[in-house]
Parts: sequence; C-alpha cells; structure tokens
Amino acid sequence: MTKSKKVFLNGEYLPVEKAHISVMDRGFLFGDGIYEVIPVYQGSLFRFEEHLERLENSLKLTRIENPYSREEWRDIMLPLIDVTKDQYIYFQVTRGAAEKRDHAFPIGVKPTVFMMCNDIAPFNGKEEGVKAISVEDNRWSACNIKAIALLGNILLRQQAVEKDCAEAILVREGYVTEGSASNVFAVIDGILITPPKNNFILAGITRDVILELAEVNRIPYAEDIISLDALKTASEIWFASSTREILPVIELDGQLIAGGKVGRLWHTMNGLLQSYKTTYAETHK
Ligand code: PDD
Repeated sequence: MTKSKKVFLNGEYLPVEKAHISVMDRGFLFGDGIYEVIPVYQGSLFRFEEHLERLENSLKLTRIENPYSREEWRDIMLPLIDVTKDQYIYFQVTRGAAEKRDHAFPIGVKPTVFMMCNDIAPFNGKEEGVKAISVEDNRWSACNIKAIALLGNILLRQQAVEKDCAEAILVREGYVTEGSASNVFAVIDGILITPPKNNFILAGITRDVILELAEVNRIPYAEDIISLDALKTASEIWFASSTREILPVIELDGQLIAGGKVGRLWHTMNGLLQSYKTTYAETHK
C-alpha cells in the first residue's frame, strides 16, 4: 500500500485526506490569503531567504500576521521534503476562519497555515520551445502581492491552454507585464530585457537569478518596458518561474519567433541556471 502524502496544517502534519479547513476560512470565502512556492533541489531550499522576504512583504501588504520566524518556517518545511527528488514547497497563509462572513478584517482570529511538498515534473516542451498568446492584462493593480486569489491569472492561462499554448503573455496598455504564472524575458537587438519590478508584476525569484547570472557572465541586459510591437520583433522570448525554470517561446500569436527555433541565449542561460542550482544546493545544505 502506498503511504499517503503528509501535509502541514495549523501546527500538525497530517495525511492529506485528513487535513481539513473550516468553510468559514477567509481563504475559502474571499481568497483572502497569500502564498509562496519554493523549489527544493537535492533537499536544499532554493533561494530560501529571498522567498521568505517576498512572503514577509506579501503578509505586510495584506496586513496578515506572520505566525512564524524564518527559522520556524524552515523547520516546518524540512520534514515534508524527499531529498532524493526535485520538489517544491507550496505554502499559504490566510487571514483565518471568522464566525461570520464580513469583508472587514475579523478581530482575534489566527491565520490558517497550510503547506505541502510536490515533485517538480519536467516540463514537456522545454527543449523544443512552447507556443504563447498575448492577452489583455485585466488583473488588479497589486500584482506584486503573491495573493492566493488567482482568478484573473487562471482565466488568462485558460485562454492560452484553449489555443494549445503553454502560457499567456499579459499586456497592459500596449506593454508586456508578465505571464499568467511567470515573468517574461525577451532578446531584442542582442539585449536581454525584462519589464521592471512594479505593482503590475510579481517580483519573481527566478527573474532575479537570471538577471544576476546575466550580470556575472557579462550578458548585456536591461530592466525596461517592452511594447507588444517590440516583443514581436524579438529574437528570443522566455518565461521564467520556479516550477518551469526558463521556458523558451517559439511561437507568439501564431507567428514564429526567430524561425521557430530555440535561441542561442536560452541555451546559454539554461546551462548557467542548471550549474547555479547545483552549486547552490551543494553550498546550502
Ligand atoms: N508562480 N509572476 C506570476 C504571476 C507568478 O505566478 C509567478 C510564479 C512568477 C514567477 O515567480 P518565481 O520565479 O518566484 O516562481 C511571476 C508560481 C510558480 C505559481 O503560482 O505556482
């Protein structure tokens, strides 16, 4: 018999089928909570401090109490991890379960904390490249908060899926913001460009790693606005996220990007990222 998966819920490790929350939980009723996703390579939490800093920022912006210190968070994660595989930790904090449904914050209610660990499945099409569509970014203007309320992102991703595409490129007033669950990079006139951090995008941890690797390896890069028109002239387009790493795009809105071949810089950057992950895991046990 296979052992049932254990998850963490409000101070306890439980088999997933025994982990229950109240229907009054504000995460369930309002999507009132925030989350994080941390990749785990060889048992090592990738860029743990940076992910925790983003978590703390999301909690501060939503005024949800942070129930644990960074060390306590780490201690909660470790028992869930299988060190023999690449995995990711998903965890969320909601404003908790109040007695009645009321938009205003409840008083004296403890946050709900849920955490699970899953395998990172290799993404199909990473080597060959994927197709993407551009769609109007109709989400709210606090996308820097990693909110569990992802209805906007979900509806945009689904449009991509229904057009046989892996991801949607979101465009606000003619300019690229990010993907539905990723950041966007483009190579235009030989320069690697990604939109600057602001309230219209999530400050991706993978995005930061890519920019650091570009800096160290003297790859010309810029954090700058990208119009959809300019994006269509790019020699390379990539998506970046913790679970899909760097995903090359070979077709945008039915038009081939650079003749439909995965670009040279993607191969370079993907190689740099793979070595960085290995070194990071070896030095952050
Ligand atoms: N999403 N932008 C959005 C809207 C995202 O949802 C994500 C990641 C990113 C990339 O961030 P990072 O590099 O830190 O993973 C950018 C995660 C993986 C998810 O929702 O599952």
